[in-house]
This record gives sequence, C-alpha cells and structure tokens, in this order.
Amino acid sequence: MASKPLYPTRRNVITALGVAGTALAVSPCALKPWPLTAREIEILKKPIPSTGEQIPIVGMGSWITFNVGNDIEARNKRVRILQTFFESGGALVDSSPMYGSSEDVIGYCLKRLRNKQGLFSATKVWTYLRPLGIAQMKRSERLWGEKPFDLLQIHNLMDWRTHLSTLLDWKAQGRVRYIGVTTSHGRRHSLTEKIIQTQPIDFVQFSYNIRDRAAEKRLLPAARERGLAVIINRPFRRGNLFGRTRGRPLPNWVGEFDCLNWAQFYLKFIVSHPAVTCAIPATSRVDHMQQNIGALQGRLPDPDMRKHMIKYFENI
Ligand SMILES: NC(=O)c1ccc[n+]([C@@H]2O[C@H](COP(=O)([O-])OP(=O)(O)OC[C@H]3O[C@@H](n4cnc5c(N)ncnc54)[C@H](OP(=O)(O)O)[C@@H]3O)[C@@H](O)[C@H]2O)c1
Repeated sequence: MASKPLYPTRRNVITALGVAGTALAVSPCALKPWPLTAREIEILKKPIPSTGEQIPIVGMGSWITFNVGNDIEARNKRVRILQTFFESGGALVDSSPMYGSSEDVIGYCLKRLRNKQGLFSATKVWTYLRPLGIAQMKRSERLWGEKPFDLLQIHNLMDWRTHLSTLLDWKAQGRVRYIGVTTSHGRRHSLTEKIIQTQPIDFVQFSYNIRDRAAEKRLLPAARERGLAVIINRPFRRGNLFGRTRGRPLPNWVGEFDCLNWAQFYLKFIVSHPAVTCAIPATSRVDHMQQNIGALQGRLPDPDMRKHMIKYFENI
C-alpha cells in the first residue's frame, strides 16, 4: 500500500504536471459553506478546449445508482453521496432521461445541498423527433431544478441530426452552455468519429478503461485533434474491474502517482490520457465515492507508468 500523503504538496502536484505532460491545472477548492473540513484542498482539473474553462477530472455518473424511485432512505443516502462529492471538489454530474428516476433523485439531492456551487450539470436527450427532444430537455430542467444546463448530450447518437440542430439553436440562445454526443460499450465508433471530425460540438462521451482500450485507436486522437472535451463513461467497466483485483494488495509502485486504492488506480489510468478531460464513475455508496473522488488529488501516472499499469493488469 502506498505511504504517500493523502493531500499532496503543491510541489508534488507541479511535478505531476511536468511528467504527465497534459494541460492539467491545480486549483484550490474552498469548502464553503460546509464547515466539516474548513480547509482548502488542491484538486486536479483540465480545460474544456472550446472555452478553456477548467473542470475537475473526476465527475459522477448516475445510471442505476441514482435510480431509486421514491424510497426516502435511499434518496437521502444519495444526498450524502453527492454531499461527499461536492465537499471533495467534484463538479460534473452526468445523467439521462434513460436512467429511470435518476434525474428526479438528483433534483431531490440538489435541493437539499448547500455546497453545490461547483456543479457542472450534464444530461442527455434520448428520444426521436424535435418536439419530443425539446419536451424531454425541458422536463430534465424541471427535474434537476437547473436552467440552463452546462452540458446537453445526444444519448447514444439517437436521432442525432435532429437534436444537434436543436442544441445548436439552444446554445446560440444561451439555453445551454456546451453540447455533445455520447456512445458506450465500444459501439458506434465509426459514426462517433465522423461526428467528432465534422460537427461543431464541445464534448464527446464514450467508454474507456484499462481493459477496454479501443478508443485509443481513433476516438481519443480524433477528439484531441478537433479540440473536444472528452468524458469517459464505464470507467470501472460497470464494476467488473474490481472483480479482477478483489483481495489483492496494491503494488508499492502506485505510490509514485499517489494512488490509495484500486478505484484510484483505474481512474488515474483513464484521466492521465492526454485526450481525456474527465471520468464519471457511478456509485451507490458514500465510502466508494470517497475513494473515487480521492483521484482528484495527487500526481498522475506518466506515459511509462501507464504502460506498466497495463502490463501489470493484464498479468493478474
Ligand atoms: N451512452 C451513454 O451515454 C452512457 C453509457 C454508459 C454509462 N454512462 C454514464 O457513465 C456512468 C458510469 O458508467 P457505469 O455506471 O456504467 O459504470 P462504472 O462507473 O464503470 O461502474 C459502476 C459500478 O462500479 C461500482 N463501484 C463504484 N465505485 C466503486 C469503488 N470505489 N469500489 C468498488 N466498486 C465501485 C458501483 O457499485 P457500488 O454502487 O456498490 O459502488 C457500480 O456497480 C453511468 O452511470 C452514466 O452516467 C453513459
């Protein structure tokens, strides 16, 4: 287990910027108005290429984990999960009308939290036809209690030409700040690449993790070349990666990138790719959120270390 400090010194972090060679920034996160840990922590951020706005490199997904319906106990547990997320410097929350009650539950949580100033709200449109898409996005605004959204994405490229035209109109009118498209599970890479190369979007979202690295071939380089922000979904392969390392101690060398648990091993692998802007792990547990959001701190693996991580993982 690594014996590195949980909160890195600025010098450590600056060293990390040098070796990782990516456009990382470190910014102080003032934990106000929550007094629980009234100190500043340094968190890792990367810029959204279309504006230069910096966002934290770990966000939060909500598929299944926030789809808890009207169960009050489960809802209040999600309040604590989001509270932990924001207190630790998290910002980007990703959802979709496809995720059952998740958007409603996120809205429930946001109403009960005072420390959500950093929220970067991201949801999706997932239907056919322009009027249905508009109605769905307006419903999401109501459910979250957020207007305008920071980011609206076309879920799984569904009816993407229709919704892209709406989203461009909305962006021009200031009804959304950023727009993008999503896919996952390694599907639709050719079409996603074509959209990356030809359409005026800000963000693209797809799957990438230490086991599923197909995106390294075309999508990640294409997004980098076109100057798009990249959100990575399924960073834990829907939790499957933990099965591989369950009960296995971390190797000592993970201390070189300030990694304290397997969740951070997997997340830091992803966010150290120069084309990746942020990863969005999902969890239904506060302790898992603490582990995941801890990847916002400390150094990141450099390119040689990333190769070493792959080799190690493949030999487990
Ligand atoms: N096409 C699309 O737009 C698309 C497709 C897929 C996903 N997404 C987005 O990406 C997000 C993430 O993907 P995902 O939810 O499929 O999978 P994921 O984040 O790779 O994995 C989630 C699973 O990992 C477990 N987990 C989380 N943190 C853990 C930790 N520290 N230790 C052990 N287990 C942990 C969770 O269980 P616990 O609840 O027990 O922590 C959950 O079962 C989604 O929620 C969604 O927002 C978008």
